[in-house]
Amino acid sequence: MTSGDLRKKYIEFFKKRGHKEIPSASLVPEHDPTVLFTTAGMHSLVPYLLGEKHPMGKRLVNVQKCIRTDDIEEVGDNRHLTFFEMLGNWSLDGYFKNEAITWSWEFLVDKKEGLGLAPEKIFVSAFEGDSDAPRDEEPIKIWSELFKKSGIDAKVDVPLSGGGRIFTYDKSKNFWGPAGMTGPCGPNSEMFYDTDKPHNPAFGKICHPNCDCGRFIEIWNDVFMEYNKTAGGKYVLLKQKNVDTGMGTERTLAILNGFDSVYETDVLAPIVAKIKDQIPKTKTTAHKSKTEEIKSIRIIADHTRASVFMISDGIMPSNIERGYILRRLLRRAIRHGRMLKMPENFLAPLIEVVINIYKENYSDLNRNKTKILNEIKKEEGKFEKTLEAGMREFKKIEWVGVADEALPKRGSFAGHAEPQISGKVAFNLYQTYGFPIELTLELAKEQGRLVDISGFQKELRKHQELSRTAAAGKFKGGLSDQGEQAVKYHTATHLLLAALRKVLGEHIYQRGSNITAERLRFDFSHPEKMTKEQIQKVEDLVNEQIQKNLSVSFAEMALEDAKRLGATHSTSSGSPRGIRGAMGIFETKYGERVKVYAIGDEKTGIFSREICGGPHAANTGILGKFKIQKEEASSSGVRRIKAVLE
Ligand code: SER
Repeated sequence: MTSGDLRKKYIEFFKKRGHKEIPSASLVPEHDPTVLFTTAGMHSLVPYLLGEKHPMGKRLVNVQKCIRTDDIEEVGDNRHLTFFEMLGNWSLDGYFKNEAITWSWEFLVDKKEGLGLAPEKIFVSAFEGDSDAPRDEEPIKIWSELFKKSGIDAKVDVPLSGGGRIFTYDKSKNFWGPAGMTGPCGPNSEMFYDTDKPHNPAFGKICHPNCDCGRFIEIWNDVFMEYNKTAGGKYVLLKQKNVDTGMGTERTLAILNGFDSVYETDVLAPIVAKIKDQIPKTKTTAHKSKTEEIKSIRIIADHTRASVFMISDGIMPSNIERGYILRRLLRRAIRHGRMLKMPENFLAPLIEVVINIYKENYSDLNRNKTKILNEIKKEEGKFEKTLEAGMREFKKIEWVGVADEALPKRGSFAGHAEPQISGKVAFNLYQTYGFPIELTLELAKEQGRLVDISGFQKELRKHQELSRTAAAGKFKGGLSDQGEQAVKYHTATHLLLAALRKVLGEHIYQRGSNITAERLRFDFSHPEKMTKEQIQKVEDLVNEQIQKNLSVSFAEMALEDAKRLGATHSTSSGSPRGIRGAMGIFETKYGERVKVYAIGDEKTGIFSREICGGPHAANTGILGKFKIQKEEASSSGVRRIKAVLE
């Protein structure tokens, strides 16, 4: 089965059951300050999970592209990836546990409409309960009955050898969300496929579905979102019950085809083949074993694919936030390329392959091809220049000191008093040779050495840079809690775009937006620096609309009608913004219904019309005073405004 077959089958299955297909959201979550990347389908749907009405109804189905970097160390094994596609069906205050689980089961085992997997190969889990939320009995009951109908006596929480088939776990395994620190969440029920591989006792005495030995592969997760986690850490019942399911495309494909790894599926195998093609036959690689070589090949394949999608969604290599993650992925791929003795610019042919695989489902990739090729080539060139010198420097490092209190207590270095790379040296590698700190860590780890990370961070701070190596801790609250303030900024962003278009012209489109409870940041297409007068004009125009206390309302309509009304729309796919951009991503979904937010009415005149999911302030009068703090270049042809509401 190919990825195309699987996507089609999934979408058709749920369409037949009343679901409407929605397009994949960007990898850059818009209006959600709590995360760097879209890690699951729920990010773009948070307002609807909290009660906003979705224009397409209560049952949705989608294929969402996702980036997850928490498992980056595992990439290279048979199943972990930083980029993947998730198939999902959604219920927004509609059906709940019974339908969700029954349909999951049908899709997995039905031979005609579904995947036709053998029921005896499926194992499932449920939430065991704790002081925040009770044991989730309903899924256990539903699963027992479904298995029974297939002639399987599914025992609960007994070892596999005793007929165990339904297993309960704690929050770390069977509770999903919130996507940030706060927001919608709930217990989940996961489905695993038994590959029948022998258990590896290195991972524990006995095997069970969540054992990491590799015998069981998790393929699908049904989340029952019935709670909202508040800033105080409490789990309160949501006013509505939601279902969020996510099935990993690559893993499911591997299982259906009897492959040993996700790298054999049609979305990765051609990339792997192109890498192998380029490994010089006459040179020996830097690796000691075939296994290490395979790992390098897989890392390159995964990281390149992720980078292509990231750049297409508007992310550029840099030293902060998303750009830093992208740079890290690219540089890691380049280093592994070096170890395989790949020729210079070896990434370019891989990019072509990635785009070829996905061009039908993500038309923005082709549109952004030149940009993707250029950015990756630039980064490759930049890093290649210093990589060799950096590696020489690394080899010369004098190992100083021993592990101290400041070093991590967990992980493979815990408790070891090994010589370490000082913070200064790690910083020098970063500053002079462009080694992301994770690369230094990886190289050190290969030699069983330590890195003084806190020393590195001190150096970094000294050089007045913010270390943003991880999303964690970056934003204190979630969107849902910062609620009120974030909502005001959201409405102010619409006013700003409309004002910019009035002052600068119709060529202005949104190229990115990021809101916190403290400020808005808005990227837009414009070839030159704004003059002082233009900035003042825009600011005044926004404040005028605030003073007029315009009403904010929305209407649901067909995309074609929104276009006729001249509504603007933001996408992050790097395509020209405005409705043309929207047409880009929606083009295969004819008849798409969208929500159009209007600021102002017939009487006052409509100042802004934008396609947007909301939520928004009811009136502009509550926004406060709008002040532009900064106008600067963001990337070529794109300007960035930072503004606050006082
Ligand atoms: N959000 C859940 C997951 O990512 C289900 O979609 O597993």
